[in-house]
Amino acid sequence: MVQKIILDCDPGHDDAVAIMMAAKHPEIELLGITTVRGNQTLEKVTRNALNVVQYLDIDVPVYKGMSVPMVIEPRPVEERVHGDSGLDGPQFDELTRTIESKHAIQFIIETLMASDGDIILVPTGPLTNIAMAMRIEPRIVPKIKQIVLMGGCYQLGNVTPSAEFNIWADGEAAHIVFSSGVKVTMMGLDITRKVLALPSVIERMSKHDNRAAKLFCDLMTFFNKGQKKTFGWEGGPLHDPTTVAYLIDPSVITVKSMHTDIEINSEQSYGRTNCDYFLLTDEPKNSDVAIDVDVEKFWDIVEECISLYE
Ligand code: RIB
Ligand code: CA
Repeated sequence: MVQKIILDCDPGHDDAVAIMMAAKHPEIELLGITTVRGNQTLEKVTRNALNVVQYLDIDVPVYKGMSVPMVIEPRPVEERVHGDSGLDGPQFDELTRTIESKHAIQFIIETLMASDGDIILVPTGPLTNIAMAMRIEPRIVPKIKQIVLMGGCYQLGNVTPSAEFNIWADGEAAHIVFSSGVKVTMMGLDITRKVLALPSVIERMSKHDNRAAKLFCDLMTFFNKGQKKTFGWEGGPLHDPTTVAYLIDPSVITVKSMHTDIEINSEQSYGRTNCDYFLLTDEPKNSDVAIDVDVEKFWDIVEECISLYE
């Protein structure tokens, strides 16, 4: 069954690959792209989203969202990994695509309220837009079929020892989303760190003679430089596309139902996703947390999406 989704993102190299995949695969109907401050400022991530849809000739509306988190001060942007533009590497033509006049939150609310409850939200950046929409219009909560997000970890963090960037960038927003009652499927670092865009992967995708392949290779070549410098890895974890791959073929990722809550009171552990992996508490299982990924199948899905472009 075709999955109707809204992709809420902060492009970002891995967000850009998620857009490329979601826009073309027949299993997915991409209703709209909404942007949020995260990897870079709102202006830059929005420009990046427009450049990606223009470069790939994707006919999907782009809506600009929140430029700051709900409570805390904006976090530093991730120039180490994504560069000054937030999408360094590829060369884009002059940008002529424009954003929609409607605010991202208004688009999310209106689309969900007009729906039959069959829309999946796919956040791959901080959860500010999603949480704000829930607070502004609580009636959308029962209308959300599912939230499949990239964020969190039950093992090691990537921005502090305990926290993953998307959650750490707006912990209060994550708290609202994880405690909303909507089932959250969480693609955390625990599995995204297994899908590394190694040189062999770039080589494999470069064999496709189309714009999607060129964009993928240009993005990952730059992305890997930042990952090598920051973490010493030969290939960067392709975090965000795990959400889209899961929607295309759920068998690619193994999930486990458990309670997850968000640490927002501790200075040291702010943004930690406390995942009750061993079911030690009686708290409600509000999340399906990814615990393994079929790496070969994941890259097959990525390659399939690339091959769908002219
Ligand atoms: O921690 C990884 C996440 O933070 C990814 O979504 C990446 O794009 C950044 O937003
Ligand atoms: Ca992201």
